Amino acid sequence: PAVRSLIAGNWKMNGLKAASSEFDAMLEGATELSSGIDLLVCPPATLIAAFADRLAAANEKGALAVAIGAQDCHANATGAHTGDISAEMLADAGARAIIVGHSERRADHGETDAIVRTKAQAAWRAGLVAIVCVGETQGERNAGHTLDVVAGQLAGSLPDGATAANLVVAYEPVWAIGTGMTPTAADVEEVHGFIRQTLTQRFNAEGDQMRLLYGGSVKPSNARELMSVPHVNGALVGGASLKASDFLAIAAGC
Ligand code: G3H
Repeated sequence: PAVRSLIAGNWKMNGLKAASSEFDAMLEGATELSSGIDLLVCPPATLIAAFADRLAAANEKGALAVAIGAQDCHANATGAHTGDISAEMLADAGARAIIVGHSERRADHGETDAIVRTKAQAAWRAGLVAIVCVGETQGERNAGHTLDVVAGQLAGSLPDGATAANLVVAYEPVWAIGTGMTPTAADVEEVHGFIRQTLTQRFNAEGDQMRLLYGGSVKPSNARELMSVPHVNGALVGGASLKASDFLAIAAGC
């Protein structure tokens, strides 16, 4: 079967309660999208429960292919971890997926592949989808190490037991995040083809069906080209996911 597209929005540390109206506009627009597309909105944790309530209300008028996600979790379910949030808590608030190993978490919080792997397992323990991010820095690309870096991140960050239903992989070249720069379609094809091959070797038929997202400066004007690259099954969108009109235009272009 064809792999369904997923357009995921990562709001990062943006969004107050007032942004609920933007989320409502996304729900409204989602009714117009083609049936092969799933939307995921990952607001800051403070907004997950409120957004989940709004999504539930919208679903009463007609089921939408929209879900709420989170941006990170702690590896443990409970305990003395001041300021942290567990996957179980995020699930309880209404999240259905968790981004783990985003490059900003890896860089700002020292998250290693081993830590990312335990967080992906935590997402599964709570019954959620893990969206694991990988990607090279500019220096690594310039040195010709892109595929080696991505191979190492995949080997270290993906737990055994990944399936097409519980895992999404996002390829985000660090130098393309928030910079307006994107790799060429040929470069994206090379890395996504390599990720697909790696996943199929390790997870067999499941690896063939896992969704691979491209992330890094995706916007309405470049989405169609990036989304048409082989083995790109959607996007992880940062800045352009904050505005309903942009986010919906990206989804409409895929
Ligand atoms: O998770 C999203 C990415 O980091 C991409 O961010 O679309 O603002 O470049 P961006």
